[in-house]
Amino acid sequence: MNFQNKVVWITGASSGIGESLVYAFSKQGARVALSARREEELNRVAGACSTETMVAPLDVTDFEAVRAASEAILQQFGHLDVLINNAGLGQRSLAEETDLSVERRLMEVNFFGAIYPTKALLPSMIARREGHIVAVSSVLGKLGTPMRSGYAASKHALHGYYDCLRAEVWKHNLKVTLVCPGWVQTNISRFALKGDGSEYQIMDEGQSKGIPADLCAEGILRGIAQGKEEFTIGGIECLGVPFKRLLPGLFSKYIRKAKVT
Ligand SMILES: NC(=O)c1ccc[n+]([C@@H]2O[C@H](COP(=O)([O-])OP(=O)(O)OC[C@H]3O[C@@H](n4cnc5c(N)ncnc54)[C@H](OP(=O)(O)O)[C@@H]3O)[C@@H](O)[C@H]2O)c1
Repeated sequence: MNFQNKVVWITGASSGIGESLVYAFSKQGARVALSARREEELNRVAGACSTETMVAPLDVTDFEAVRAASEAILQQFGHLDVLINNAGLGQRSLAEETDLSVERRLMEVNFFGAIYPTKALLPSMIARREGHIVAVSSVLGKLGTPMRSGYAASKHALHGYYDCLRAEVWKHNLKVTLVCPGWVQTNISRFALKGDGSEYQIMDEGQSKGIPADLCAEGILRGIAQGKEEFTIGGIECLGVPFKRLLPGLFSKYIRKAKVT
């Protein structure tokens, strides 16, 4: 891995996988721009880095704020090497009990919030003929389970968008990577939305038994360095992806009875 002096922008950098990605890139000598809504948390994370950082607080669902931040990042660093669209929001509710506003919110944060930075920075990457765009999807971007309909839809949408983008931008020498984590120990289940839009506020059993966020971040850096187009990272739950691809009928029968909170 050689990220020495590279410029990396990470959304969702105030906690969980994004926070661990900031530390992992900084340890590799990269300069890092950090975005999320909670400025004090971003300052805490940036303060623990040994390389140059820039804190750019924003809500990823606000395209004008994202555009302004991307301009400020280009101003400060001159260019961007790696963009990591990581900010995300979970869900814990049955489709029949989910208010449409929750499905819209999940799409706003997990889909639109993960393409706004890309749209803002693509022209500068194309002009420079260099850049790597990463989207943090999920195993749920490749399959569906109960209780995650809106979340899985938003993550599946990322695959459609970024697979098309990859096919378009190879001629400009740009790389596109989709990362599909399984269970990772973060606060995502606590902040996940219930059907009425309130926060779930519980640390799921699956979440608490997931891989540590720093291990996930190290794997993500390795995958990016290797130029992988798509990969899963996590535990045994990642086997769900080949299971569904190879035995879709059996998978469908299995997943309806799987224990999912
Ligand atoms: N943990 C897992 O098991 C798992 C599995 C598969 C995929 N993922 C994906 O990994 C990514 C990171 O999640 P995590 O597990 O690290 O959860 P997390 O600890 O809850 O982190 C989510 C991050 O997204 C930011 N965020 C949420 N809404 C935002 C908004 N509207 N604007 C800007 N930033 C926003 C949060 O910061 P603020 O609250 O400060 O804005 C936070 O930094 C997500 O895309 C998630 O879907 C996680």
